Amino acid sequence: MRLLVLGSSWFLGRAVTETALAAGWEVTTFRRGRPESGDDPHGVTTIRGDYADLDAVARLAAAGPYDAAVDNLAYTPRETLAVARTLEPVTARYVMISTVSVYEGWPIKPLTEDSAVLECEPDAGPNPGYDGDPGPSTYGFGKAGCERAVTVTFGSDRSTILRPGVILGPHEYVGRLPWWLWRMERGGEILAAGSPDRLIQPVDVRDVAEFAVHCAAGRSGVFNVTGTGSTMGAFLSACREATGSDAAITWITDEQWLADQGVRQWTGLPLWRTYPGTWAVDSTRARQAGLVTRPLHHTVADTWEWLTTGKPVEHERAGELGISPDREQAILGVWRAREADRCGGE
Ligand SMILES: NC(=O)c1ccc[n+]([C@@H]2O[C@H](COP(=O)([O-])OP(=O)(O)OC[C@H]3O[C@@H](n4cnc5c(N)ncnc54)[C@H](OP(=O)(O)O)[C@@H]3O)[C@@H](O)[C@H]2O)c1
Repeated sequence: MRLLVLGSSWFLGRAVTETALAAGWEVTTFRRGRPESGDDPHGVTTIRGDYADLDAVARLAAAGPYDAAVDNLAYTPRETLAVARTLEPVTARYVMISTVSVYEGWPIKPLTEDSAVLECEPDAGPNPGYDGDPGPSTYGFGKAGCERAVTVTFGSDRSTILRPGVILGPHEYVGRLPWWLWRMERGGEILAAGSPDRLIQPVDVRDVAEFAVHCAAGRSGVFNVTGTGSTMGAFLSACREATGSDAAITWITDEQWLADQGVRQWTGLPLWRTYPGTWAVDSTRARQAGLVTRPLHHTVADTWEWLTTGKPVEHERAGELGISPDREQAILGVWRAREADRCGGE
């Protein structure tokens, strides 16, 4: 089987490439070749070029045919439309990596694949729609337009749309899990938000990749791809265990108070989000089609192993997440004083 992977050296694209190689596929990758984006996995044929450059995409088509393509680079609908049209004659199936952000209701409502999707034309330009708080986002509008670009070109029988929620695991450059792991390793008193019982459903990058390759082999449809579910408390315990930390966790249960201190949801404390639909994305359909997800503590342990023994690439987005040690301790100090006042007053 011949697989084309568009975007291949960071995170999900890398995992898809490695999974396909391990399954015996012949893999062609497409990327610009920036040194800071790391190396492609060994054993692939790489064609260099920019997703927005139609001459480069035409060279890619000339190197076909392909049994399937997995597209990690679909952000701007009119680019994806042009890429899909160019590859369609030489590609049997197109698997597009989308996101749960395409849903009108994310992160407010529980969602299935039948939930309403944002409206975006398949030939829309960059950053369509608008950014709302807590949603929707231009990212979500763009992905929704890209989905349409793929399905109008390949038809629903030759296209697969995967909508992952938060993806974690080795090579995660966004830095959500790495931030918690490094913070846990530093030890001391750690600030956590809300309740340890809050459900979360990140999915392991290797499980998304396995499912993407499984679909590339002949499964059409639209699928949410989320983890089986864990809790924030279990997640932080797994981080503590993986790092061998003796950290003590203080849960700030008054989340509005924490927000009033200027701590931002999602970025200030990675994975912290209070909206009820954030972690309520149903993946039953994908499970029935073959998605298997590992327990979150395996993802945590393997990511720590990669951080400490691999060669993590310092990504340009590293450092966007988290709060500084000084700020964390200052907030904890004010919180303790507030709690002492409240107890004293009772
Ligand atoms: N992370 C999450 O939690 C999450 C959740 C839901 C969905 N997703 C989706 O998952 C997909 C996977 O993305 P990823 O971030 O994991 O990275 P990735 O698949 O590893 O892709 C990044 C790769 O693409 C190449 N690239 C970047 N821009 C390019 C361009 N204009 N033309 C050609 N190649 C280009 C980079 O190499 P060069 O720089 O050398 O070109 C790099 O190899 C994305 O579509 C994202 O929306 C992610």
